[in-house]
Amino acid sequence: MMKRVQYHRFGGLEELRLDDVPQPEPGPGQIRVRVRAAAANPMDWKIRRGEMKMLSGSRFPRGLGHDFAGVVDAVGPDTVRLKPGDEVVGVATIRAAGAFAESVIAEEKNSVLKAPSMAFEQAAALTLVAVTAWSGLVMRAQVRPGQSVFIAGCLGGVGRAAVQIARMRGARITGSCSAGGRDEALALGVSDVVDYQDFDAAGYPGLFDVVFDTAGKLSLSQCGGMLKRGGQSLHIVPTFAKMIGSLFSPRRRLVFGNPTPESLASIAEAGERGQLIPAIGRIVPLSEAIPALVELEMTGLPKGKLVVVPDQ
Ligand SMILES: NC(=O)c1ccc[n+]([C@@H]2O[C@H](COP(=O)([O-])OP(=O)(O)OC[C@H]3O[C@@H](n4cnc5c(N)ncnc54)[C@H](OP(=O)(O)O)[C@@H]3O)[C@@H](O)[C@H]2O)c1
Repeated sequence: MMKRVQYHRFGGLEELRLDDVPQPEPGPGQIRVRVRAAAANPMDWKIRRGEMKMLSGSRFPRGLGHDFAGVVDAVGPDTVRLKPGDEVVGVATIRAAGAFAESVIAEEKNSVLKAPSMAFEQAAALTLVAVTAWSGLVMRAQVRPGQSVFIAGCLGGVGRAAVQIARMRGARITGSCSAGGRDEALALGVSDVVDYQDFDAAGYPGLFDVVFDTAGKLSLSQCGGMLKRGGQSLHIVPTFAKMIGSLFSPRRRLVFGNPTPESLASIAEAGERGQLIPAIGRIVPLSEAIPALVELEMTGLPKGKLVVVPDQ
């Protein structure tokens, strides 16, 4: 048996339980990972509230959490790259989830060897946010040296990764965050920092090759007005308008984090070089995960990543 944070129906924070469940067995193409660290993402509570049923499915009990780092302790048939004892990082599928647990099952294709110099906590905190930023800036927009990139929400999980990836690609970055984050954003490499409370998209006409709205607060037309000719806007918080809008113009892209072995390996390499570093707000043991998740969802704190580690 093992401990796992899970819930038995969609709903509020009161549905979360730390239950004893049977140790899961990996199926074809899957690995079982002894979790050394798992990180929280807004997706965790969107799924728990039942807002992503089309993707998550509705089978219960459902585990919580996707980002994990740990040690492989069993592999299923048809696995080719990873073996027991490997230190890995990855993203559990939306359907399976379950990273806030002593062990998690993951697809081998969504997992890679952890960067040797990164702590498990850092590796777990980086994965989904960096995969999402990578999918947008590298795989979609193919940001190049000298381009100008606007990142809305530049100190959030995805935004912070986006700033670091845009820097790696040689871009000049303008970013929005709350007023108190100005110095932190400048230190991260944002050249021009805007307080999002005072932000007026009309004040930035035709200035950017790429607008990356990580906070989901800008409209398609606001982003369009900020773009240079040939530029494109990237959106990671889908709405009906953005889904429809992205169908009719290659200048507007809905982006979904795609944890391929290639993107995960590039992120691990950038982490190893010290070019991609997450901000960790708080680390708690699994037995204290639920109160910490409640606090995060109710207050937005901690600002950096909430990371869950095994009990000692
Ligand atoms: N499509 C995908 O594959 C994918 C993947 C990952 C995440 N997401 C989604 O992307 C969103 C962001 O994820 P995250 O992990 O980065 O969340 P996060 O860490 O909570 O970051 C959100 C950031 O947005 C900032 N913000 C709030 N209002 C803003 C505004 N009006 N203008 C600019 N910035 C504003 C927040 O700043 P303050 O805290 O200072 O207010 C915070 O820094 C979530 O909705 C998440 O579900 C989608």
